[in-house]
Amino acid sequence: MVLFSQAFAAAVLLAAGVVAHPGGNTNREILRRQAHLDHPERRNVASCKRDLVESGWVREQHIRREARLHELRVAAGFAKEHEIVRRDPAEAEEEYGASAACTLDPESTEGPYWVMGELIRSDVLTGEKGAITHLDINIIDTSGCKPVTDAYVELWGSNATGVYTGVVAKGNGDGSNTAVATNALRGVQPTGKNGTATFTTVIPGHYVGRTNHLHTIIHHGAQLLANNTIRGGTISHVGQFYIEQNFLAQVEATAPYNTNKQAITKNAVDPLFNMGKQGGDDPVMKISLIGSKIEDGLYATIDIGVNPKAKQNPQAVNLWTAKGGQPIPNSPWTGYPDTCKYCGFRPPMEKKDVLEEQ
Ligand SMILES: *[C@@H]1O[C@H](CO)[C@@H](O)[C@H](O)[C@H]1NC(C)=O
Ligand SMILES: *[C@@H]1O[C@H](CO)[C@@H](O)[C@H](O)[C@H]1NC(C)=O
Ligand SMILES: *[C@@H]1O[C@H](CO)[C@@H](O)[C@H](O)[C@H]1NC(C)=O
Repeated sequence: MVLFSQAFAAAVLLAAGVVAHPGGNTNREILRRQAHLDHPERRNVASCKRDLVESGWVREQHIRREARLHELRVAAGFAKEHEIVRRDPAEAEEEYGASAACTLDPESTEGPYWVMGELIRSDVLTGEKGAITHLDINIIDTSGCKPVTDAYVELWGSNATGVYTGVVAKGNGDGSNTAVATNALRGVQPTGKNGTATFTTVIPGHYVGRTNHLHTIIHHGAQLLANNTIRGGTISHVGQFYIEQNFLAQVEATAPYNTNKQAITKNAVDPLFNMGKQGGDDPVMKISLIGSKIEDGLYATIDIGVNPKAKQNPQAVNLWTAKGGQPIPNSPWTGYPDTCKYCGFRPPMEKKDVLEEQ
């Protein structure tokens, strides 16, 4: 019955007639998400609540994040050192895994714009403007209910006006090669002792067919190369993070987001957002203002549950090199959105099609 209702939800999304990535194969994405939801070993972060609370990890992370937000406020002149407002860690423990925006376990598509070989760096701004966001990501092994201390977290997103760097594709900005030579808003970070990776980026802009989202990939056992990139290893998780709709509308009203002429897709009608929320998962980041308004900067947190032994097989379209983004031979995303192997979007299916393909 659970399987049926999830399949049914996917069918309803398709019936809504919304295109995920224009030209992208929504059917493939739905089937992949479905396989994840149906997997017998799938567990989300909430299932580790007891272990993580008992080990003191939830309390430590709460205190660490509270201190980090305060540090950002002090640095930006919005608070004095001694003015930290602390919340009872017991409340954070109580809410862990249940409150909005603190767990994530969606398996989602990498989409057509993954560029492999990005630099290991925490600040990925490279001159991009927008709502500056200090993002704190905790990775939890839901098979052992422990933080993952030896993974690499990869992050990428479009810029404030909805254009990806490192790629050239019709529909990505004006389709020209203006952004292929920069690696802005893309980077990789190791998780430390507590399972944490941090980035400084911007809230991504929207583009045709998609609500605002950040992409992530979690790497295990990768080799660190001399030029500060990683190679090899396995990938346990491919996901996307989102922004709560009311807050997003406020971000979109600020510059330069308000100069983005591309049509807006709200979370509620984005099929990938809705798929990401199935099965008790919550891919929405928890975001706090550092000062009194969005322009003062943001602090965002999210926890991701992974099974480090899981093997996902996302496909990159380009490789980041000293000469900019270079095509990966035979990538199934090459030629997106018209002629790639992973293109071939077919019109929204009837409910029975989804059920027949189970
Ligand atoms: C891990 O968390 C503890 C408690 O918050 C903190 O004192 C320590 O600095 C953290 N370690 C790392 C490597 O981030
Ligand atoms: C986003 O990238 C495009 C292409 O490089 C650029 O034209 C645009 O100015 C960028 N947007 C912002 C807000 O910087
Ligand atoms: C890093 O080194 C690898 C292996 O030599 C190479 O393929 C890649 O292009 C280099 N990346 C950069 C950004 O220089």
